[in-house]
Amino acid sequence: MRKGQILAVLGIAVVAGGIATAVAVVPTWLPVQASREAGRIDFTIWFTIVISIVIFAVVAAVMIYSIYRFRAPQADDWSEGPPVHGSTGLEIVWTVIPLLIVTSIAIVSAIVLSRNGSAGNNPLQVDVTAVQYSWSFTYPDAHGLTSSVLRLPKDRSVVLTISTKDVIHSFWVPEFGQKQDAVPGLHTHVHITPDRLGSYPVICVELCGLGHSVMRSTAIVMTPAAFDKWIKQQTAAITSPSASASGAAVFTNNGCGACHTLVAAKATGKIGPDLDKLKAYAQQAGQPLDQFISESITDPNKYIQPGYPKSVMPGTFGASLSKAQLDALVQYLIDSAKG
Ligand code: CUA
Repeated sequence: MRKGQILAVLGIAVVAGGIATAVAVVPTWLPVQASREAGRIDFTIWFTIVISIVIFAVVAAVMIYSIYRFRAPQADDWSEGPPVHGSTGLEIVWTVIPLLIVTSIAIVSAIVLSRNGSAGNNPLQVDVTAVQYSWSFTYPDAHGLTSSVLRLPKDRSVVLTISTKDVIHSFWVPEFGQKQDAVPGLHTHVHITPDRLGSYPVICVELCGLGHSVMRSTAIVMTPAAFDKWIKQQTAAITSPSASASGAAVFTNNGCGACHTLVAAKATGKIGPDLDKLKAYAQQAGQPLDQFISESITDPNKYIQPGYPKSVMPGTFGASLSKAQLDALVQYLIDSAKG
């Protein structure tokens, strides 16, 4: 090849590589990194993207140059190109280079997987429970404190132990990078070390039924001091003997607000009946209020409030709540229902 031809190919490669780089870098494709694990995962992504851009530039340059340089002369519709036999040197090159690339990606991925799979020193334990269609987060070291929002301290390693009460769900916070399935009969684990303050969405990423798309919660990364303060306040509320307060805790802990509206609990769910209208619903159903509420929780499909879908409310609450919790919840709903 003459010097001019090499320069032409190089020029096309620079332009193609520049366009591909702009497409990769200018739009914000990835969520912000809010954990050390996400940083490592993003590094793996960028490592492969850089390799892909270089290959794309070389292939595009050779292809575009060849299409122009070796095009058929005008009015030549029939003559064939010169026969080409194998080129051992070329074949070795195009075998060895991909081998090195794939091996290097495998090594980087293996290191990232192993680091992301191991918890740091003194990790915080959180049990994540998935149920159609909500998440709950229990802190076993804090008197079993349960919350519908995942609160985590910054810069401390966390081990999430994930389980499900019904079907397969999958836990994902895009900003944390790590993703893990919740599988019936298993306790799966995932490690996260949040390193950025803020609120991030918790998303279910396994199609789990009609309410899958609304099976969301929030992960809040707090300063360690604010986190400790929250734990202390909440632990004090759990040990309080007030029935209505513990009923409110049952409501929040079981994610009722994901599907129901209840002003007293600041819940704005729209999937199931509006719990501020329980008195009217009970009248429509022709039942006493306490019996109506209790039955609607333990046997939700027996009576469906007109206008709301059947078989959406899980029938598992009757079994998963103790009698005391159920009574507290019913009392809380009676006290807070408006009309
Ligand atoms: Cu749970 Cu999708």
